[in-house]
Amino acid sequence: MKALILAGGFATRLRPLSCSRPKSLFPLVNKPLLQWIFERLADSGVDEVILAVNALTQFYIRQQKPSKCGLKVRFSIDPPKKPLGTAGPIKKAEKLIGRNEPFIVLNGDIFADIDYKKLLETHKKTNALATMALCMVEDPSCFGVVELCEGDCIKRFIEKPPKGQAPSNLINAGAYVLSPEVFDLIPEGRAISIEREIFPQIAAAGRLVGCRINGLWIDIGKPVEYLEANKLILDSIAHTKTKPKKIMAEINYPVALDQGVVVGENSIIGPYAIIGKNVKIGNNVTISDSIVFSDAEIGDDVKLHGAVVGEGAYIGRHADIGNGCVIADQAKVKENVHMRDGSTVCPAKEISENIL
Ligand code: GDD
Ligand code: MG
Repeated sequence: MKALILAGGFATRLRPLSCSRPKSLFPLVNKPLLQWIFERLADSGVDEVILAVNALTQFYIRQQKPSKCGLKVRFSIDPPKKPLGTAGPIKKAEKLIGRNEPFIVLNGDIFADIDYKKLLETHKKTNALATMALCMVEDPSCFGVVELCEGDCIKRFIEKPPKGQAPSNLINAGAYVLSPEVFDLIPEGRAISIEREIFPQIAAAGRLVGCRINGLWIDIGKPVEYLEANKLILDSIAHTKTKPKKIMAEINYPVALDQGVVVGENSIIGPYAIIGKNVKIGNNVTISDSIVFSDAEIGDDVKLHGAVVGEGAYIGRHADIGNGCVIADQAKVKENVHMRDGSTVCPAKEISENIL
């Protein structure tokens, strides 16, 4: 079985962290989102994945090399400076996908506990052209919303309805099984939205079917949601509580420490501290509700609460980083700097004065 992953978006809401990595490579509890997706697909019997991306995203994925989990992985690249939207890349990959059997399409920016086998079974049992995973949310206005009729057939599909006008709270979870006939509905060579132009047509023909999911479903839209997503995932996987050897600090679980992390004396790590590979943490540091990407360095006496520190970033001694702060990759916050809640630092920038 084949799966196409749409991962050519620009993740503007996750700036400045997305200035230097696509959303699909954001670490979730120290593992890139794409790797979580690959693992689940491989477990569901998928053997080949097509990554529909732009050239820059392909560059980053090749550079980072997330584990392929035994899958055959190919790229299908949008034309330069002409993103194809969410349906164009499916049409473009028609030859790679083939027309022999139904295939899976996923939004590559979602962490979801979806049973793809069940989605495929539902698709095969009905006369659907498209079977869509659905989940319940409080505010559906930022998503694709469905109106169901009998037998989980989707009567109407509305992308991002104005606030208060959604027909239900059941939304498109960003995972579908499509039959090859869907290729015939997508015009070639231009940007086209599957949500705005294709799903409404399939729904009108009575061949769009919904399949509700119950597990964890997280859209990592903005930095605050990204932090929240990491905490939820950490909660769902935090079984082991063995304190790593060589660490003389106090560890308040749940905590995730990747390989090669060094922590100085009298530091208090956690709860909810997610620390990437080879991070160096000094003495008397306190870190909670925060994510520190790999290779970052945190000096002595630093306070880090509710913040994200990018890859290779440096936080000098005595710095105090408030809630919702985002320090992008390779940025440098000098000693004694106090950063007010919600401040951000762009990649490779140096901050030497307080941000109050
Ligand atoms: N290759 C390629 N080219 N991929 C793209 C392009 C493009 O031009 N535009 C977007 N994508 C990818 C994004 O990277 C993302 O993984 C996926 O397609 C969906 O695009 P988003 O821009 O993230 O859409 P959204 O979040 O506003 O809405 C979509 O997701 C919701 C679930 O989170 C829709 O599918 C909604 O209906 C859905 O509810
Ligand atoms: Mg999205």
